Amino acid sequence: MFIRMPRLLAGALLFLLFAASLPGWAQSTADQVAGKSGDLAEGKRLFRVNCAGCHKWHGGGGGGYGGDALSLRKTKLDRAEIIETVSCGRPGTGMPYHRRDAYADGTCYGLHEKDVVGNGMVLAANNFLRPPEIAAIADYVLAEVKGHGEPNYQECLAFFGPGSRVCDIYAPGDAAKKTAP
Ligand code: HEC
Repeated sequence: MFIRMPRLLAGALLFLLFAASLPGWAQSTADQVAGKSGDLAEGKRLFRVNCAGCHKWHGGGGGGYGGDALSLRKTKLDRAEIIETVSCGRPGTGMPYHRRDAYADGTCYGLHEKDVVGNGMVLAANNFLRPPEIAAIADYVLAEVKGHGEPNYQECLAFFGPGSRVCDIYAPGDAAKKTAP
């Protein structure tokens, strides 16, 4: 008994240490699933491929194919609302849905395939995205786009890479000649 007690205590202590480490592990896993931890680069890449065609690289939107894409810089939507809009699209507008089964299970505005997809009320995206990819895009929009003012030269270079000629139109006077090749 006297010999076994310390062992039991040590065992209990080890168990407590192990348990204490669990919430941190669970949290970082949850963050990864939500696309939060350092996944901005991936969100940006996905934004560039899937969204910039209509919303422009700066997210400011404007006219073009698909109608007037709203400004994501001026949007009032929160994370959940952005995820819903990207997943489900917006019926009756040029904003396409990006989740493959969006209208298969009634989770988008309670609407089904036959209500909206067949008759062209809602457009399908060119590429469908998985929920973690949509979350990564939403986090990118929240971090780098929403609430930002007019797009500027530095921001453009940060998006396209140093020296990108597409950014010349934002270059302020002489700075353009110095920085852009
Ligand atoms: C084919 C063009 C097109 C593509 C591609 C597109 N959008 Fe849109 N988006 C639109 C249009 C048009 C609207 C405006 C809808 C309306 O009038 O309500 C819009 C609206 C939105 C809104 C609502 C903004 C608000 O404040 O109400 C969000 C958020 C959004 N888009 C995000 C995205 C993201 C993120 C992507 C990439 C995954 C994307 N869109 C891809 C055309 C597009």
